[in-house]
Amino acid sequence: QKGDTDVSQRTLVLIKPDAVRRGLVGEILARLERKGLRIEEMRLRTMDADLADAHYADHVEKPFYPPLKEFMLSGPLVSLIVSGDESIPVIRALAGATDGRAAAPGTIRGDLSLSNRENLIHASDSEESAEREIKLWFG
Ligand code: TYD
Repeated sequence: QKGDTDVSQRTLVLIKPDAVRRGLVGEILARLERKGLRIEEMRLRTMDADLADAHYADHVEKPFYPPLKEFMLSGPLVSLIVSGDESIPVIRALAGATDGRAAAPGTIRGDLSLSNRENLIHASDSEESAEREIKLWFG
């Protein structure tokens, strides 16, 4: 029964270049830590074009991809592997809806972003994408 089980998951989180520029890395990390999630790996790095295309393989053909790619390459970001009970849906809920203007107050994007592109955080959306993205970012 849901609630009684403890299903630990590992997921990939990116604290995006807008968050680094705005000095919000600590704020976002604190929210993850206070929730009880565990940081397994953490690295500051700047994405390159090949990694962006691989990471956003589902989006490369979309009209919003060129400006998204430019933004993601625009400065350093923090990549993390985070673990915890049902960490994949839990972090998605903490992040909030994609568009910061629509994201609920109380969420990272709802409290701190006013943009559909510069929305501070990426978190894997399924176990399959978490596995793929962790390999991509941490080998
Ligand atoms: P998506 O996977 O739909 O959202 P999420 O990050 O919430 O899982 O989209 C990936 C990123 O692409 C999103 O974080 C911001 C960017 N994006 C845009 O720039 N414009 C858009 O219209 C959409 C849907 C996403």
